[in-house]
Amino acid sequence: METEKMMTAEQIDDRDLSEQIKNVTKESHIRAETTELMLSFQRGQVTLSQFKLLLCSLYEIYQALEEAMDRNSDHPSVAPIYFPAELARLESIKKDLEYFYGQDWKEKIAVPAATKRYCHRLRQIGLENPELLVAHAYTRYLGDLSGGQVLGRIAQKSMGLKTSDGLSFFAFPGVSSPNLFKQLYRSRMNCLELTEEQRNGVLEEAVQAFEFNIQVFEDLQKMLRVTENRRSVDSTATHSLRMPGTLISSSPLIRLILGLFVALATVSAGIYAL
Ligand code: HEM
Repeated sequence: METEKMMTAEQIDDRDLSEQIKNVTKESHIRAETTELMLSFQRGQVTLSQFKLLLCSLYEIYQALEEAMDRNSDHPSVAPIYFPAELARLESIKKDLEYFYGQDWKEKIAVPAATKRYCHRLRQIGLENPELLVAHAYTRYLGDLSGGQVLGRIAQKSMGLKTSDGLSFFAFPGVSSPNLFKQLYRSRMNCLELTEEQRNGVLEEAVQAFEFNIQVFEDLQKMLRVTENRRSVDSTATHSLRMPGTLISSSPLIRLILGLFVALATVSAGIYAL
């Protein structure tokens, strides 16, 4: 993309917002990476249920994030980091949801409370503190352009998908070099004119943004556990029902023999009574 070509060599300075934000979120990044859900990805064990549920939450999160970014695209703290053509994820996520859930995917969306809280915060700062949006855009988009790239390939293998259908979320056709683009993004972050108070607010918000993501991942695992437990209870119930009672009622041959036996017994009883 043209924007990438405008990028000059990256000058790193620890007074830069991009360096400060990376430093303050280092520990949070480790916690996010080591959540059960992210570990499943890294171990190549992500299941279709996990991925589909994650996509539902990503849909709500990006809807809230991108709505807030669009609404504030002219704001001085948003305009320099506003790259809808290169970064926007919402349309890709919709395609993936349609692939996995079918045309009526919107009716099947299920998200946990943590996702609702995250979206509420995004909408709130979109209305009240747009300068904090950089913290959220950084957390999601730079994450997607970093570890997210590897995760996409692993997910395809783990779920046994033959093509890249259902994996549009991981593809950035408008970004030819993720590394160069990240450099450009960091340099734009470093140009934002923020007061000391606003800068501290952004750093705190970035830690919060990671925290929101961690809580979403943890809630998703809880949701998955509940579904799995329900399934195993159902299958145990079906299994026990199948034991003596339903075996009789579900086998036509046994039902026929039993019927004949009852009929014979009734006739014999009748003869005996005479
Ligand atoms: C399986 C989980 C993850 C892995 C393996 C992973 C891996 C990585 C790697 C290797 C980088 C460094 C890339 C580079 O220096 O160019 C990175 C950067 C980043 N990751 Fe992750 N990540 C994971 C999860 C996450 C999550 C859940 C988030 C946030 C929601 C996130 C946000 C970020 C951000 C914002 C950066 C950019 C850091 C910077 O350069 O300032 N990552 N990740």
